[in-house]
Amino acid sequence: MGKIKLGSNVFIPMPVTLLGIKIDGKANFMALGWVSRLNASPPLIGAAINKYHYSSEGIRENETFSINIPSENLIKETDYCGLVSGRETDKSTLFNVFYGETGSAPLIEECPLSLECKLVDIYEMPSNELIIGEIVETYLDKDYIKDDAPDVKKMNPLFLTMPDNNYWNLGENVGKAWDVGKELKLGEDESEYV
Ligand SMILES: Cc1cc2nc3c(=O)[nH]c(=O)nc-3n(C[C@H](O)[C@H](O)[C@H](O)COP(=O)(O)O)c2cc1C
Repeated sequence: MGKIKLGSNVFIPMPVTLLGIKIDGKANFMALGWVSRLNASPPLIGAAINKYHYSSEGIRENETFSINIPSENLIKETDYCGLVSGRETDKSTLFNVFYGETGSAPLIEECPLSLECKLVDIYEMPSNELIIGEIVETYLDKDYIKDDAPDVKKMNPLFLTMPDNNYWNLGENVGKAWDVGKELKLGEDESEYV
């Protein structure tokens, strides 16, 4: 077998997002890669954040947060939000901020897509905590709508790979999900895949 073992501290490619919270009356943003949709209905999303981040305190203060998807053109601002802590550096004026349904989750005007979330639960782990939130509203810049949905190609989101710590942009569309695999179905009555 032509495989080598990489050990257990590995990562899968992940989306690059900005987690927004309000703390002491100010907005704060941190770069967030460990994020995923967790539940279909209600729509729950999870973010794994280090317990000692300023953002962790902020989530508890208002029990709301936002997940913003920056385009490639915001790469420097996004990286900066992952380099400095709101505990020492004011990140509140980095972006134009607006507020939605909750009134306390800061949303980023410059990001084409922003999710506004209410805290549902916090699952404690040894170094990180899984912040589980319900998406209460989504804000899409009207310049990024295609067929009533986000135009992902135009949004040009960033991706992160670790441990090499590289940013990537979105490549080409290579097929339809729940569709291209149909070619491998053996036949109408067969449930197995080749
Ligand atoms: C691209 C990128 C992705 C990151 N993803 C995460 C993450 O998923 N979870 C986490 O706890 N920290 C992550 N970080 C680190 C935090 O963004 C960083 O420690 C930040 O300064 C915390 O800000 P705060 O103290 O203002 O909350 C990431 C950093 C970068 C650059």
